[in-house]
Amino acid sequence: MSAPLLRVREIDAFIEQFHILEDVTFDVPDGGITVLLGRNGAGKTTTLRSVLGMTSVTSGDIEYNGQSIVGKKTHTIAQMGIGYVPEHRAIFSELTVQENLRIAARHKDDLPRNIEMIFTLFPDLKRLYQLQGGNLSGGQQQMLAIARALVPDNRLLLIDEPSEGLAPVIIEQVIAAIKALAETKTVLLVEQNFRVASQLADNYVIMDHGQSVAHGVMASLSQDDEIVQRYLGVGMH
Ligand SMILES: Nc1ncnc2c1ncn2[C@@H]1O[C@H](COP(=O)(O)OP(=O)(O)O)[C@@H](O)[C@H]1O
Ligand SMILES: [Mg+2]
Repeated sequence: MSAPLLRVREIDAFIEQFHILEDVTFDVPDGGITVLLGRNGAGKTTTLRSVLGMTSVTSGDIEYNGQSIVGKKTHTIAQMGIGYVPEHRAIFSELTVQENLRIAARHKDDLPRNIEMIFTLFPDLKRLYQLQGGNLSGGQQQMLAIARALVPDNRLLLIDEPSEGLAPVIIEQVIAAIKALAETKTVLLVEQNFRVASQLADNYVIMDHGQSVAHGVMASLSQDDEIVQRYLGVGMH
């Protein structure tokens, strides 16, 4: 087994005075898709934000590609090759698709280098290139939000709730795109929709009340009704 791309070890994180994460520990293998599962408020988004240095981590360690990144500035962490697709698709509605992508570049030649790959993954964006973000459908905005993280040469993508609020047929398109991009990138996904998670993920980590409580291979979780019921509160069938 090769070394994990991301190692999170016993991290505690605070938002203001609130102790949100406690002893969170998990690995993200290099390649493939790892999903963070857990009920609303379990700490999934805070975990992604902690990796990115957007939340104050008070103890524990986070290693990316063998290097400790705890305490580094968000832009420094991003430059190491970590892209972030936040909840609620934070795109600029006044800017065109092209402008949204252009401002996601870290270097001048990022967009020209990666635009064909982006258009292959999201053919709609080619057609809509000169349209303002605000005129896109919810699904198209989600695709643009993911595409923005593909403009720089990121190796790890943190994607938060990509299926949220989307119609089933659009979710299928988003699933296909994430599968395709995971052939060349490593993905750490937050996904509340268990069916979507089980279609996408190779590995899972379950969070509950700010702690990591279970992890393993996704295919085996889909067989484990008891864990799914206890921590996710959903039936699988
Ligand atoms: N800005 C904030 N101020 C105070 N508490 C927060 C803030 N953001 C999140 N929390 C709390 O942190 C916990 C984890 O939130 P979050 O990481 O967003 O969960 P998830 O993404 O799993 O739904 C929740 O109990 C939430 O209420
Ligand atoms: Mg969240």
